[in-house]
Amino acid sequence: MAFKIGLLGLGTVGAGTAEILLNPEGRHPLLQDITIEQVGVKSLDKKRSIELPTEILTTDLEAIVTNPDIDIVVELIGGLEPARSLILKAIEHGKHVVTANKAVMARFAPEIYEAANKAKVYVLLEAAVGGGIPIVEPLKQSLGANRFENIIGIVNGTTNYILTQMTQNGVDFEEVLKEAQALGYAEADPTADVGGLDAADKISILASLAFGGKVKREDVYCEGITKITSSDISYAEKLGFVIKLLAIAHKLPQSEPEKLQLRVHPTFVPKSHPLANINGVNNAILVEGQPLGQVMFYGPGAGSGPTASAVVADIMNIVGVLYSNNKAEKLDPLLSCSPQNYCLVSPIEDVYTRFYTRFLCADVPGVIGHLGMAFGEHDVSLESVVQIGFQGELAEIVVVTHKVREGNFRSAIEEIQSLNAIKNIPSIIRVL
Ligand code: HSE
Repeated sequence: MAFKIGLLGLGTVGAGTAEILLNPEGRHPLLQDITIEQVGVKSLDKKRSIELPTEILTTDLEAIVTNPDIDIVVELIGGLEPARSLILKAIEHGKHVVTANKAVMARFAPEIYEAANKAKVYVLLEAAVGGGIPIVEPLKQSLGANRFENIIGIVNGTTNYILTQMTQNGVDFEEVLKEAQALGYAEADPTADVGGLDAADKISILASLAFGGKVKREDVYCEGITKITSSDISYAEKLGFVIKLLAIAHKLPQSEPEKLQLRVHPTFVPKSHPLANINGVNNAILVEGQPLGQVMFYGPGAGSGPTASAVVADIMNIVGVLYSNNKAEKLDPLLSCSPQNYCLVSPIEDVYTRFYTRFLCADVPGVIGHLGMAFGEHDVSLESVVQIGFQGELAEIVVVTHKVREGNFRSAIEEIQSLNAIKNIPSIIRVL
């Protein structure tokens, strides 16, 4: 039996996927039954890292998703359009779909799953989150017996690479970003990485899987790493933390109806926390549930080979099911998705967390007293206040709060901004 693949895109991940499919030796025997029928590319003339017979390359992507010979369409072009339309058209033509497209799946999963369930085809997306780390299928299958409470992840390789280089080698933000792009980690438009948007797409996908509901992408609160400075990195170090971009999905205990917190932001992570030691392009996802307790998934979160490994695993999952059940009347409920209702998401103001805040202020009597008063009036209790250095004429005061309601903290900050002695508040970073 041979299963035919139509590959959309031959970029970093597309080339990695073709590389695995063309070299099945020493891998799972199922791979020998999978062939690449057609590959959709932007330009036929481009020089490529992988050699493919020219007759299977085409610029007509529609012809691939409607080709009656193709069993599985693998969408690796990224971006919203035409990717979304091609996925839907492939489904309409009875193709199973494998995609690494987090942007499309974070926004259009309900529409795509509805179409797929109607057409009785699978849409798998292991490569959309965590690169080579298996996390999507484990949430659906191996960990499916649990009630999930927390998913906390470092899910963007580019930003983790940048923060690691800034922390370990004192390298400048812009310089490291260029390196990450050259290594093929960053998105074509790196604002999706550094702005936290890529991580927000990924946590909304994971939350939907873990909590069994549809997630509105705009419900994920999102802050990126562009404002992180070397001062913050060195204060973090002095205070016993490292800065990481965390993506968090948390189920509020005893909320009736059930509510989630969904957020992405730079975070002070205690050096002793397992996520503090995830460096470079690696990703890690800490999953907490009952009765499981905690497990952490760790590995390369981006790049050609690792992401292709996840893409090919999805292809194999589909081929495995097709072998036993070629004309399925019903989809395998462990592989398919059919979330019904939207998850309720609580506003960021209701999050309880600690905050690190860096103030630049006039070095005059009473400033720390005024700060303390303003925080106190809004019920924000302080854990530590330090004044170590100066930036030019201005004194630098660093405050770490106890766990407080974010809404109260924001009100206090608003009041503090109006104090004469406070010249600037360059950094506010949540603490895990
Ligand atoms: N740009 C993404 C990252 C690629 O840096 O993690 C993998 O999704």
